[in-house]
Amino acid sequence: MGPLVLLFSFSLLHLCATQVTPRFVQTGTDLLLDVQEPVVLKETDLFTWIVGSVAVVRLNHGGKPTIFPNFKSRAELSAQNHSLLLKNVQKRDSGVYRARVSGASISDVVEYNVTVLDPVSGVKLTVKPCSSNSTNVTVICSTEDSLINSTFTCDNQTCSHKGGERAEIITPGGSLDVYLKNGSVICNHSNQVSSTRDIQKIEDFCVKPEVLNGGPNNVTPIVVAIILSLVVVLAVI
Ligand SMILES: *[C@@H]1O[C@H](CO)[C@@H](O)[C@H](O)[C@H]1NC(C)=O
Ligand SMILES: *[C@@H]1O[C@H](CO)[C@@H](O)[C@H](O)[C@H]1NC(C)=O
Ligand SMILES: *[C@@H]1O[C@H](CO)[C@@H](O)[C@H](O)[C@H]1NC(C)=O
Ligand SMILES: *[C@@H]1O[C@H](CO)[C@@H](O)[C@H](O)[C@H]1NC(C)=O
Ligand SMILES: *[C@@H]1O[C@H](CO)[C@@H](O)[C@H](O)[C@H]1NC(C)=O
Ligand SMILES: *[C@@H]1O[C@H](CO)[C@@H](O)[C@H](O)[C@H]1NC(C)=O
Ligand SMILES: *[C@@H]1O[C@H](CO)[C@@H](O)[C@H](O)[C@H]1NC(C)=O
Ligand SMILES: *[C@@H]1O[C@H](CO)[C@@H](O)[C@H](O)[C@H]1NC(C)=O
Repeated sequence: MGPLVLLFSFSLLHLCATQVTPRFVQTGTDLLLDVQEPVVLKETDLFTWIVGSVAVVRLNHGGKPTIFPNFKSRAELSAQNHSLLLKNVQKRDSGVYRARVSGASISDVVEYNVTVLDPVSGVKLTVKPCSSNSTNVTVICSTEDSLINSTFTCDNQTCSHKGGERAEIITPGGSLDVYLKNGSVICNHSNQVSSTRDIQKIEDFCVKPEVLNGGPNNVTPIVVAIILSLVVVLAVI
């Protein structure tokens, strides 16, 4: 029991000590890594932003920030609050960023786990209409690199999901969902930084015979109106 409790409290301590904030950011955008609490540097202190084991920028007490060559012209350190601005991030900029104060002791002020992602590709939704003797609808949602198909069963009012879901090779971190909402099928392709969707009204594909029969009745008044106006025009002439 003793070692277990010890292990448990160690894990808790460990969790508290390293509060890594996950950050997802889209390729090509600017990323601001904030330092919330004020950092006061003592005379012997050195402030550094590092990613992995690579230094981004360094600042000593009362000095000017030094940006390291890899980050020249694309990293900025806020003089007021020590936040780091990284411009036009690329996927290779992903990593764990730490704001570190080193002097007599070393402590990390903040830690961010940065993941740079491309936006997801577009989606296309294809609905195979109900056949006359079936109320089952097959929906296929496809992207450049994945495919999902779903079957819906429709009554005269609504359609419900029936399964038959299958997704293949999805871009890392991405997800593809097909769902029914308010009489429409929605296909949603998304990751942490972006989403694309295609939407189609499902009722249009599941027209019941009753509704079909109602069609001509709706047309009749229009036809009557046209004939009537023709008669009026002819009468005037
Ligand atoms: C730190 O400074 C930057 C730029 O000067 C600003 O955009 C950011 O909001 C500031 N962050 C905090 C936590 O004050
Ligand atoms: C950082 O985030 C990525 C993607 O979510 C994850 O795979 C990785 O394990 C995380 N790393 C750390 C140190 O938290
Ligand atoms: C539905 O109709 C098609 C032809 O229109 C027929 O081949 C099929 O067997 C029918 N299915 C059922 C379940 O009645
Ligand atoms: C429609 O769904 C029902 C219930 O799963 C199934 O028994 C039937 O074969 C399906 N009809 C067609 C035409 O796929
Ligand atoms: C779903 O897609 C898989 C693979 O493309 C196919 O084998 C399966 O028949 C499809 N299901 C429906 C209901 O269309
Ligand atoms: C739709 O179905 C419900 C029962 O499922 C029925 O009460 C209703 O009359 C139907 N409406 C039409 C327009 O067919
Ligand atoms: C559902 O769609 C109808 C029209 O298509 C709209 O009037 C209604 O507000 C929608 N309801 C919800 C909850 O989105
Ligand atoms: C798409 O899916 C994502 C993740 O499941 C969700 O956050 C987002 O709200 C969805 N977008 C729409 C328009 O449904």
